[in-house]
Amino acid sequence: MNLRQIVAAVRNPKNEEDERTSNRRFPGKDCAWRTAVKFSGLRAKSQRKRSAVVTRRSRLVAGNWKMHGSRASNGALLQAVLAGLPRESGAEVVVCPPYPYLQQVSERLAGTSIAWGAQNLSEHGSGAYTGEVSAAMIKELGCRYVIVGHSERRTLYGETDAQVAAKFAAARAAGLTPIACVGETLAEREAGRTEEVVARQLHAMLEKADFGAAVLAYEPVWAIGTGRNATPGEAQAVHAFLRRQLSPDVRILYGGSVKAQNAAAIFAMPDVDGGLIGGASLAAGEFIEIVRAAQ
Ligand code: 13P
Repeated sequence: MNLRQIVAAVRNPKNEEDERTSNRRFPGKDCAWRTAVKFSGLRAKSQRKRSAVVTRRSRLVAGNWKMHGSRASNGALLQAVLAGLPRESGAEVVVCPPYPYLQQVSERLAGTSIAWGAQNLSEHGSGAYTGEVSAAMIKELGCRYVIVGHSERRTLYGETDAQVAAKFAAARAAGLTPIACVGETLAEREAGRTEEVVARQLHAMLEKADFGAAVLAYEPVWAIGTGRNATPGEAQAVHAFLRRQLSPDVRILYGGSVKAQNAAAIFAMPDVDGGLIGGASLAAGEFIEIVRAAQ
């Protein structure tokens, strides 16, 4: 079965009703795609049961600081965010600083409601990999989360689907929660290939590890750092497509030019469970407003 057929199957769960057909299409006991399609069937059969599950998904807003910050500016930013966050925030909040600041951030955030994570990890456990950082090292710094497969890693550093999948599996094996990123370029969207691309990226990870309690982030490449966010409808369409391939309780974040001013409309979509925030996570006031919008 090629990728286009997989996409078609997930788009049209009716085709998967026959278990014998499903077995033929997805041979092997542990094929994640069989499980995915079963979830899709479950959705069709029991909408009520599914919505009961859906309401259990908690909101998550993660700030990806990318390669920004200094000890001084990080301290000021965290101070302002901690002071401004609503006491009873209904959304989980995470910040992902550059590696050298994880120690500082872990010391500042220990005992607060904000969790922290890394922006990348090595797929290897240890060894002669100059410049790399392992999942165990990240875990030792108290990280709960790690971003995997960000489009900047894919495009600027040539990370392949297979490498991203290995990183995803390494994070899962270490007990970290990956925030696994998928997203299409503008050319791929304009060619009508969005679903094919995000399915391929997700499929590569599902081949290597169960999705479990990992978080998925849909980040259209054309919306990152451009000020051009996906419309709420565009985001919802892709999120719904991705959700059909996963357990209904997987959290799916939207990322790409989320700001205080557009966050509420995007987060109001039924399959959007929060956001992965770049530039706006570096401004305390903006970030706090985005967290509020996620509640
Ligand atoms: P911006 O919010 O700056 O568009 O970045 C999004 C992003 O890449 C988060 O990972």
